[in-house]
Amino acid sequence: MLRPILVTGGAGFIGSNFVLAWMAEEQRPLVNLDKLTYAGNPLTLASIEHDPRYTFVHGDIADAELLKALFAEHRFSAVVHFAAESHVDRSIVGPGAFLATNIHGTFELLQAARAHYDTLTGEDRDSFRFLHVSTDEVFGTLEPEDPAFAETTAYAPNSPYAASKAASDHLVRAWHHTYQLPTLLTNCSNNYGPYQFPEKLIPLMITHALEGKPLPVYGDGQQVRDWLYVGDHCLAIREVLAKGRVGETYNVGGCNQRTNLEVVHTLCAALDELLPNSPYRPHAGLVRMVKDRPGHDRRYAIDASKIERELGWKPRETFETGFRKTVEWYLANRKWTEDVTSGAYQNWLQENYGHRSTSESVGA
Ligand code: NAD
Ligand code: DAU
Repeated sequence: MLRPILVTGGAGFIGSNFVLAWMAEEQRPLVNLDKLTYAGNPLTLASIEHDPRYTFVHGDIADAELLKALFAEHRFSAVVHFAAESHVDRSIVGPGAFLATNIHGTFELLQAARAHYDTLTGEDRDSFRFLHVSTDEVFGTLEPEDPAFAETTAYAPNSPYAASKAASDHLVRAWHHTYQLPTLLTNCSNNYGPYQFPEKLIPLMITHALEGKPLPVYGDGQQVRDWLYVGDHCLAIREVLAKGRVGETYNVGGCNQRTNLEVVHTLCAALDELLPNSPYRPHAGLVRMVKDRPGHDRRYAIDASKIERELGWKPRETFETGFRKTVEWYLANRKWTEDVTSGAYQNWLQENYGHRSTSESVGA
């Protein structure tokens, strides 16, 4: 009998893309443990909710008793750990939740996985893996001419979010080194694609543009991010889970460095084309430069040569193809965005953007 994998945070952006692809293409059953914070949406997974290979558990990764019971019941063959507080701006406004979930939650999950691993023997023990999904933000920020982050780059996290993820990465490393838990770690660059919560740059700009609201670009808009289509990240995680060397870390990135202003203008041009009757054309007229994010990292870039060399992974999407798919998905799924942005999200918009006075339009 195939024993299930445990996915944490599978109702969030990357987790839900991973769960949907796993259920479509893999045989092993999957248990999804998610607290359903504002960022988790079970509707995203409605198409698989009656699949007998899929189980959803509403709960917190920091709940040691719940974890103990789940490991005892399902005797997982692997853990893929996505659950986290993930938004940098929220970590600046309220870092506590980031420490609770990203650090303490990861600690509890490691402890539960370790206790379970200690009961395994033979092939079950040899094949067990704990894969921790992390971010390139643990490496800090780059100058324009600096080489991209490699697996050997020293950690230098700058935001409370990045610091909490760096701490969780260190815990994972220590649980491997000290207790021989068979861990794998991935550090990925900025993802974009379907089901991303509209607080993040690309879906925020799409949802604002559709309503004719200002498109708030922080600071001078010259910060660089290395964009990767979410489906490619999910494929990379599956490759690492299947073939990654125990105890290793793998950087994952798209080789698609763009300034924020470039991304926003590319989006505006795509919307002008896809929505010829929009009253807000040209959408670039909505762009506003606003007060910068405190401690804003200037540039991220990933050197993904290790995962390509060792595991044969390469992104399938270019920025152009992935971006087009993403914009079309948001245009075709406005109901999804409306559902996740009603209620408490409105308070967040006021909290994060209310105090950022806008400059005049820099568009068109
Ligand atoms: P997300 O915020 O969209 O989703 C997070 C999910 O975790 C939500 O479903 C939420 O309900 C759940 N969750 C939060 N706290 C929990 C808890 N205590 N217990 C159980 N579930 C909890 O995040 P995302 O963008 O999908 O990111 C997923 C992971 O990938 C994170 O670990 C993040 O650090 C990492 N990552 C994200 C990116 C990116 O660009 N989004 C890039 C690299 C790495
Ligand atoms: O690099 C990987 C990380 O990418 C992940 O670990 C994080 O979970 C994920 O949120 C993302 O972090 P960023 O801070 O890079 O993503 P965000 O979408 O919040 O912002 C992208 C860039 O756009 C960043 O330079 C800030 C800027 N920005 C963002 C928002 C929300 C704006 O200019 N205006 C905005 O309104």
